[in-house]
Amino acid sequence: MKFETKAIHGVRTPDKGIENWGNTLHLATTFPIKEYGVLQEFEYARVASPTRKDFETLIAQLESGKHGFGFSSGMAATSSVFMMFKAGDHFVFGLDIYGGTYRIMHDIFNKFGFEATFVDTTDLQQVEAAIRSNTKAIFIESPSNPLLDVTDIRGIVAIAQKHHLLTIVDNTFLSPVLQRPLELGADIVLHSATKYLGGHNDIIAGAAVVNRDDLAEQIRFNQVAVGALLSPFDSWLLLRSMKTLKLRVEKAQENTLKLLDFLRHHPEVEKVYYPTEVTNKGKAIQEKQASGGGAVFSFTVKTEEKAKRFFESLKVALFAVSLGGVETLVTHPSTLTHTEFPEEEKVARGVTRTLIRVAVGIEDPEDLIEDFKQALEK
Ligand SMILES: Cc1ncc(COP(=O)(O)O)c(C=O)c1O
Repeated sequence: MKFETKAIHGVRTPDKGIENWGNTLHLATTFPIKEYGVLQEFEYARVASPTRKDFETLIAQLESGKHGFGFSSGMAATSSVFMMFKAGDHFVFGLDIYGGTYRIMHDIFNKFGFEATFVDTTDLQQVEAAIRSNTKAIFIESPSNPLLDVTDIRGIVAIAQKHHLLTIVDNTFLSPVLQRPLELGADIVLHSATKYLGGHNDIIAGAAVVNRDDLAEQIRFNQVAVGALLSPFDSWLLLRSMKTLKLRVEKAQENTLKLLDFLRHHPEVEKVYYPTEVTNKGKAIQEKQASGGGAVFSFTVKTEEKAKRFFESLKVALFAVSLGGVETLVTHPSTLTHTEFPEEEKVARGVTRTLIRVAVGIEDPEDLIEDFKQALEK
């Protein structure tokens, strides 16, 4: 089955012998034990529950993996995966990873003896140079946030395999519609399912997908032990949302290309950042490892005052954090999503006060262009 067919027909809930067309929402936290002394799949819902299982089956299929896991948030997924490791283990992270991931390593897992080095993962030499004898995994996001730098996933996998490390990829920004890291050799894929998988800005959720049975066993153990689980209702909402995942992502990406065509030539815009922009040094890699640049881009205007007026003047797009929903959201990384980094470090990396990030939705592109035009020209 092709992606869009799988997204719609990949999981059908068998319910009392009837194959449902939709998915059944099972809210039960406990299930009758059928036979004394015999283990059954569903006993207690922290361990396993039918609707979460349906979501887990579907996300595994869409990411070309064997085992999927549903978590209560993207951070719950990332934290539960890192609970596989032990004190003294070292990890190489991308510099531009999501701030929350940086925070759990820097402020929580460091207390348990985890060691982390943050490098520019677009430079494979830097990645290899950061590896130590106690390194256990390389963690990347591609494209990065908010400057949309591209990391060569196959290149990272080759380094990881050479040094017997795991490759962990947070695939939130592109979704499995555009990029499937397990097909490129990665070991673990993570998602903030709050974004494209949920798609409507009304669910906080996370996911992990793996192929290896041994990794699945460890993640399942952590998921059950810690209990950072996706609820049945959110699992059911996600199953419903994912049926339209491909349509939403493709439409948002089409809108993005149209908005970029407009912004590139606007006199108030200095520079645009997008994975397949000719000025992006990772363009060729992006085109090899993904089927598009996605629906998130950034651009700079000339002054901070101009940026402020832009946010205040938008009528269609919303000034808000997050991405991946049907609504176009614009945000100011410097004061909203990247506050945990010192100002000088942000500026050095290009996260200036004049940088605006856009997560494009599925509205009519002409309305979006009109909205951006009036807001830029206010
Ligand atoms: C790339 C990325 N990974 C992980 C997360 C964390 O996800 P959640 O907010 O669902 O915990 C986010 C949230 O913005 C994100 O953008």
